[in-house]
Amino acid sequence: MMLLQRVGPACHVLVLVLCLSAAEDFDWSANNHDSFYYGTFPNGFSWGAGGSAYQTEGAWDKDGKGLSIWDVFTHNKGKTFLNDTGDSSCDGYYKIKDDISLMKEMNLNHYRFSISWPRIMPTGIRSDHVNEKGVRYYDVLIDELLENKITPIVTLYHWDLPQVLQEKYGGWQNISMINYFNDFANLCFERYGDRVKHWITFNNPWSVAVEGYETGEHAPGLKLRGTGAYRAAHHIIKAHAKVWHTYDSQWRSKQKGMVGISLSGDWGEPVDITNQKDIEAAERYVQFYIGWFATPIFHGDYPQVMKDFIGRKSALQGLGTSRLPTFSSQEKSYIKGTSDFLGVGHFTTRYITQKSYPSNRGTTYFSDRDVAELVDPRWPDPGSEWLYSVPWGFRRLLNFMKTHYGNPMIYITENGVSEKMMCTELCDDWRIKYYKDYINEMLKAIRDGVNVKGYTAWSLLDKFEWDEGYSERFGLYYVDFKNQNKPRYPKASVQFYKRIIQSNGFPGQREVETWKRKATETCSTSNQLLAAEEQRNTAANILKLIHDPLTSHMEMVTEVVVPTVCTLCILISAVFLMFLLRKRN
Ligand SMILES: *[C@@H]1O[C@H](CO)[C@@H](O)[C@H](O)[C@H]1NC(C)=O
Ligand SMILES: *[C@@H]1O[C@H](CO)[C@@H](O)[C@H](O)[C@H]1NC(C)=O
Repeated sequence: MMLLQRVGPACHVLVLVLCLSAAEDFDWSANNHDSFYYGTFPNGFSWGAGGSAYQTEGAWDKDGKGLSIWDVFTHNKGKTFLNDTGDSSCDGYYKIKDDISLMKEMNLNHYRFSISWPRIMPTGIRSDHVNEKGVRYYDVLIDELLENKITPIVTLYHWDLPQVLQEKYGGWQNISMINYFNDFANLCFERYGDRVKHWITFNNPWSVAVEGYETGEHAPGLKLRGTGAYRAAHHIIKAHAKVWHTYDSQWRSKQKGMVGISLSGDWGEPVDITNQKDIEAAERYVQFYIGWFATPIFHGDYPQVMKDFIGRKSALQGLGTSRLPTFSSQEKSYIKGTSDFLGVGHFTTRYITQKSYPSNRGTTYFSDRDVAELVDPRWPDPGSEWLYSVPWGFRRLLNFMKTHYGNPMIYITENGVSEKMMCTELCDDWRIKYYKDYINEMLKAIRDGVNVKGYTAWSLLDKFEWDEGYSERFGLYYVDFKNQNKPRYPKASVQFYKRIIQSNGFPGQREVETWKRKATETCSTSNQLLAAEEQRNTAANILKLIHDPLTSHMEMVTEVVVPTVCTLCILISAVFLMFLLRKRN
């Protein structure tokens, strides 16, 4: 009897597993940690770097630009690290030529950037006003890129929703965003589509939904726990599908480009790959992350596991319907198949195990998943505290995507690592190691049969990192934000990445080791340049103060100078005294 009772559900699981494995053959139970693979990428593989409008452009109120939710969010104190804003950031708005020369230096094939919606439509609504000066900025950027043989990969929505749409409608909580976003996208196709052939509708919609409308860490800062993220995501998925159809029916035959979405997600590895509960938990983690968006777009509906879990928990709460919205059958067929390629952003990995959350303690997106995230303390965490370097997770994620979404064409849209807070070290050997190992795992994934067409290092420049302000630097190039001119300095990783691009991969151990040595040699010169520049700035500031007639400033100067001079005097006397004493002995 005992045995039979046990066999019942086990059979169920077995049938389910068999059903799944007919369509998908992702193998949770085998995690290959092969050694480094020397080899090259397919011909025509596209190498790039990226950034986004609000993070790099600055010029937040110039030339007729409207407010975005990020302008408003950062101007409210207490929302970002040190109350930093993107008001001027890298001043990329004024540095098109400079930045393109940095891309040329690395021989980039493509550059990924985003169009600021309120820069070209100040209220977000096309019939209100189109800001031609804003339109012109991206015209120049695109033309300059093409002139330098760099392909533009353009994101339409990288989080900077026009503030008017937030105030009037509640932003992505409101279904009306779908039409407004479609109007904006249509204008972009109309004005830029003759030259832009790679369009990304949304960058990392997970973050927009969860951090914008659930935790409130990002603009617009709403905390609509347990519902806000699901509703925002629902409208984003529909808006994506609508824009794809607009391109497909109105522009594709003329412009012959592609429209996709860029999804970001950590990999979730079962703590114990022989434990079915851990495997299910890890799969749930990945489904709630990228499956939430990818499954509707590739298969027409939300992942079954999301429908089951959120539905059951909503019922336990006494709700009549699930907090996860539903698609009608027309909507399902309209949404299914609306991505010409899949953009993938990826940074890190977690170990996952099952953990039940009692439904009486408030429901959130996070408690709906019933998982716990763990990290291995041996994993290196060179930069941001959440960013552990786990290269093999990248290959696992890419293989998961291949098996679950029918081996789509993939562009890596974001991958990279930051450095510890306020670090001004240009000899970034940890970034070299991160890129080397992650790019190598991507190469292994291509050998596994994953259809990856391009790779975008994240990011070209240090830039505004949302709620983290300027405390996290992801750039290949260091930006001195304290200097009004925002000068850029190459980190060692620039030289290393350039070699990978030149060789289209990793030709051999000896070469790769030489690259690394040479890269770290050049950076010490850059370090000296930067240090000298910083000293000059400090000196210039002190001089400015000395020449300023205001006595209050004079006091400040004496505060700085007097102790320094005194310390120096004492030091010199001490050395002199020692010298004298020695002589006597
Ligand atoms: C940021 O703004 C808040 C609110 O005005 C203030 O309390 C806090 O001290 C500010 N932080 C910094 C680093 O200026
Ligand atoms: C959407 O916006 C319209 C117009 O402002 C408003 O009437 C409606 O209540 C909004 N819906 C939601 C869910 O906020």
